Parts: sequence; C-alpha cells; structure tokens
Amino acid sequence: MTRAFTEEDEKMGINIALDGPSGAGKSTIARKAAEKLGYIYVDTGAMYRSIAYHAMTNGASLDDAEQIAAQLEGLKVELTYIDGAQAVLVNGENVSDKIRTPEVSMGASKVSAVPAVRDFLLETQREIARKNDIIMDGRDIGTVVLPDAQVKLFLTATAEERADRRFKELQQKGDTSTYEEVLADINQRDYNDTHREIAPLRQAEDAVLIDSTNMTIDEVVAEIVKAAEAVSKKKSELNTERTSRRDRELMPIHAISKSRRINPVRQFFYGILRPIVMLIFKIKYKLTFEGVENIPRDGGNIFASNHRSYADPVLIALPTRVPISYMAKKELFEGNKAFKWLITAFGAFPVERGSGDTSVIDTSIEKLESGRNLVIFPEGTRSKDGKVGKGKTGVALIAAVAQTKVVPVGINFEGEKLTKGKKVVVRFGKPIDPKELGINDTSAASRKKIKKEIMDSITSLVH
Ligand code: DC
Repeated sequence: MTRAFTEEDEKMGINIALDGPSGAGKSTIARKAAEKLGYIYVDTGAMYRSIAYHAMTNGASLDDAEQIAAQLEGLKVELTYIDGAQAVLVNGENVSDKIRTPEVSMGASKVSAVPAVRDFLLETQREIARKNDIIMDGRDIGTVVLPDAQVKLFLTATAEERADRRFKELQQKGDTSTYEEVLADINQRDYNDTHREIAPLRQAEDAVLIDSTNMTIDEVVAEIVKAAEAVSKKKSELNTERTSRRDRELMPIHAISKSRRINPVRQFFYGILRPIVMLIFKIKYKLTFEGVENIPRDGGNIFASNHRSYADPVLIALPTRVPISYMAKKELFEGNKAFKWLITAFGAFPVERGSGDTSVIDTSIEKLESGRNLVIFPEGTRSKDGKVGKGKTGVALIAAVAQTKVVPVGINFEGEKLTKGKKVVVRFGKPIDPKELGINDTSAASRKKIKKEIMDSITSLVH
C-alpha cells in the first residue's frame, strides 16, 4: 500500500491519496481515518462542488466552459473547521450543506471537466498537502495532485452498491429521489469522471485497489491507518538515523594548547587600561565582584554569563588578567568606523544572528588558541527582567571542541537598565571542566550535558 521511502519524504508531511468513483465511501472513510491519525482531511470534491454552487447561483451555464471560467475571477474557496466539523466557505459564506444536493453533485461533475477550474484548485490542494499530514480524497489525487503521496489508494464498489448507499443517505436527509434515479446519476457521473479529457478518474499505477463492496467502513479505515503508521515509523527511523549520523560526523575535537601567550604589546596595554576602566566603573556604579578566586590565572577559558547590558563584556573582563574576546552582532561592525575599531580592539568579533554560521565556532577556537578568554552569553539576547532564560548549545559545542573550562558568571543589578549609581554584583562560579564531565566528543548528548551544567550554574549565581 505504501511506496518506497526516499529521503525527500523526511521533508514533507505524510500524504495519503484516496481516489475512487462517486459514492464509494471515500469521504466517510477519509474523515474517520484522519480523525484516528490526527491528520487533516481534505475533501477536494467539496471544492469542485463549491465552484459549481457558486456558478449555479450566479446563473452561469454549466455547459459553457467560458462562463464557468469567468466565475473564478476573485473567487475564494476555503476549507476550514467550524465547531469541530469541516466546512467549506465560498467567499466567506459557509456552503457546506448547500453543496450536498443532487443538482450540485451533477454540476460539480461538469465544472470539474473545465481545465481552468482544475488549475484554479490544484495549487491550493498541493499547498495544504505540503504543509500538513493529510488524507485527501478525490478523483485525481494519486495521479495528478499528489503523485508523490506516500500512500495511494483507489477505493471502489459496484455501481449498484454505491447507488444503494447514496440512496439511503439521501432518504435520511428527506430527499425524494428514487433508487433508479440515484443509480442513473451515479452511472452518468462515473461516465463523466472517467471520460473527461483532463485528469480523468483513473487508478494510479502505484495505488492499491480496495473494493469496498463487501468491506465495512472500519475495515477500510484500519487498513489506511496501518499504512500511514508504517510511513510514520519509517520517517522517524530515517530521522533518528540522520541525527545519529550527524552526531557522529560532528566537529572533531580540537583541544586548544594552553602554552600560547598573548601578544606582549596587547597584554601591556591591557595591563594599563584595566585599572583605569576599573576606576571609571567603580565611580559610576556600586560595583562588587564575588568569587574572583574562581577565575583561572591562565587564558584560553570561556566565560559564560547571563546577559543584562552592553557593559557586560567589560564587567566580566575587569577582574580577569587576560584580555577577552566576545561575539557581537554583525550590525555593530557596519556603522561608525571608530566604533568598529574600538570594539575590535576590545576583543569583539562579528556574528550573524540565526545564520547557523559555523565559522563562528572556528573564530572562537582561534581566539581561545591565541590565549584570550572568550566571553559568551548563551541566552543570545539581553534579559530585561533579570531572569535567566534558556541557553543555546553553541557555548557547549565550543567548550567540547576546545576541551577548555567554562567559568559561569552571574551579572546582577535591579531594574532593566544599568544606570549611574546602581549596585552591580558580578559573581564568578566554579569552572566547569568538560574533561571532568567525561566529555570527549561533540555529540548532542555531550552538548546537552555541558549546557545544563553551565545554565544551572549561571542561574545559581543570579539572585
Ligand atoms: O467526491 P464528490 O462526489 O464530492 O465530487 C464531486 C465531483 O467533483 C465529482 O463528480 C468529480 C469531481 N471531482 C474531481 O473531478 N476531482 C476531484 N479531485 C474531486 C472531485
């Protein structure tokens, strides 16, 4: 029932195409299967019916393709849910009940032979299928609309059986059509649907034929659910395989050597500048540092901190003897040249947010290798209320690759802005050593473990 699974399938939702002639029970079955699977049921017949209804109410002749095509101008057909039931809206009007009459059925069979009508609906139908797990019923779903559907079924039953079912359905609704009329109607529609030039009703080569004449609805539904679940299982297996492959192929460990010394000129200027900036900051804020004994004496360490203000890199750098480096958003490097020079001199390097750019990792490793400390704000953005948010795993990846310690930092001040005279406490926690945590690769599990340690520690330093 299902076709061979390809890697393309991983990207798309699960699509079940259910085709067959009128009255084979497609919609009842599709609705039930969709409910069981939690998929969206897309009733394409209702779309054709809506167009027929719209053309009929506007007085268009259903035998005139040009008049029907003209009706499509500005027409909006939507499938939606109202009170849990699927509803069809034509230019906003709920026509769900009005399109179920024998007249509209015949009208739909006629308009569906008009190429402009089929073109009009094709993209809408494909769009729904691209984005969702769906079961779509119709006449040409497996052949034209969704030729790549993972599950294709062709549901049929004898014309007499189908006429009998439809007749009972109509009787329940109070319709006065006779059985003979319903059968003639079904035969006519079968003829129309299979003999039209465009997208005629036809079983796709790779579709499975289900003759429901002697099957219950639930039996057919169970078959469909089984097929969909098999696809879903394959899909998640493929996903897991991909993820673990990706994990194995992750960045190789590149333990930094701690022997490199900072450029002496840079170190000299840093030595002069540090007490001056410290003095300025101490005058401006009521600044205290806690846990300075946790700061390693050497360089090449990561400082992972919560993010409160633009002054954070400086607040972290002040009690460290080794110059720092830190990531700053790319935009800061694009404006004023002097500003760019200044932040670069103070160790900033640009990152493009959300670009997934791996060169940032390489630059970070280079900075650590050069003997600098690297300041990272794992939350990515500044926290206005002081609460520590969720961290990203980038910091853990860099720590795992570089196999270097991460010093957690908590920056504390009240309110949103760091204003003059404010009490600021910068706390340094015990360094987290990837080696001590037994991290010797960059797999997702390893990154998660380091990240958790870091974020827990930062959170404990913010109070
Ligand atoms: O499934 P239904 O009876 O609601 O469909 C109404 C008409 O629309 C039917 O006569 C054939 C046509 N149709 C079609 O041509 N292609 C589809 N995918 C769905 C329906």
